[in-house]
Amino acid sequence: MNLKGRDFLTLKDFTPEEILYMVDLAAELKDKKKKGISTKDMHAGKNVALIFEKTSTRTRCSFEVAAHDLGMGTTYLNPKDSQIGKKESIADTARVLSSMFEGIEYRGYGQEIVEELAKYSKVPVWNGLTNEYHPTQMLADVLTIKEKLGRIQGVRLTYMGDARYNMGNSLMIVCAKLGMHFTACTAKEYFPNEALVKECQEIAAQTGATITLTEDVKAGTAGADVIYTDVWVSMGEPEEAWEERIKALLPYQVNKAVMDNAGPEAIFMHCLPAYHDQNTEVGREVKAKFGLEEVEVTHEVFESAQSVVFDEAENRMHTIKAVMVATL
Ligand code: CP
Ligand code: NVA
Repeated sequence: MNLKGRDFLTLKDFTPEEILYMVDLAAELKDKKKKGISTKDMHAGKNVALIFEKTSTRTRCSFEVAAHDLGMGTTYLNPKDSQIGKKESIADTARVLSSMFEGIEYRGYGQEIVEELAKYSKVPVWNGLTNEYHPTQMLADVLTIKEKLGRIQGVRLTYMGDARYNMGNSLMIVCAKLGMHFTACTAKEYFPNEALVKECQEIAAQTGATITLTEDVKAGTAGADVIYTDVWVSMGEPEEAWEERIKALLPYQVNKAVMDNAGPEAIFMHCLPAYHDQNTEVGREVKAKFGLEEVEVTHEVFESAQSVVFDEAENRMHTIKAVMVATL
């Protein structure tokens, strides 16, 4: 398997074998890390640029720790301190950065920006989240599912909440690629867009996956192996969106009734950060304005034995490391 020089932008352009190769490589790298086996010589002396036009805890830390574990240097660029987009085009930025770095991570708004960066870059570009896709998160999620359930093919994953944004889109893609059964269980206006559904259905036809869109919570969650959700208002969306989201998505909150209706060994997943209590600013604002103590997931489910969210978060680092090892 040779993925050297490849960009990592949506997962759509990777075969099932290539995706599973990166997941297995991540498991190997995780095992090495746990055993204290150094990987510092794997990419010693190289450097990667990490561009973040939106905030991050997991993705940024994963890229930094993974790069350092591989012997690489990192440069973090935030929207305030670089010229990107304001005084310098993406195309020019790509040509400058790829003359100094061996790889470039980009987190930001429209997918077209990271695609443009990749088009003009001579070195691999990794998508660290756009409005439309979150592909590095997918590898962590698949690794976590494999660790917890012991299988990937045939797993029934139900995504609740805003399924037309980065997480819903990317989960639908990875499920289609890997022969998993994807259900978006949410209000109609939050279903993934038709063109992407169609594209994923075509992939699914070849892998044994299925794609289901339903507004029915009972039917959509019955017997699921994985119940997955994400915030209802994503980074970059206006605060005013909260009102309509709560109105439309409250019936799709992940609570005990949902978990009880899922399969007996179902796990709960969330890419994080999550609004499950009153210990965040946004959580408190939502309570003050709408009287809601917990948002997309109840505190009870978040803290339950079925919740694997922190293992999932740890796996971000091991899988991002695998992406860099594979493509550099
Ligand atoms: N899941 C995820 O991407 O988290 P961050 O926004 O903290 O990077
Ligand atoms: N949908 C969320 C994912 C965060 C990891 C967002 O874009 O803010």
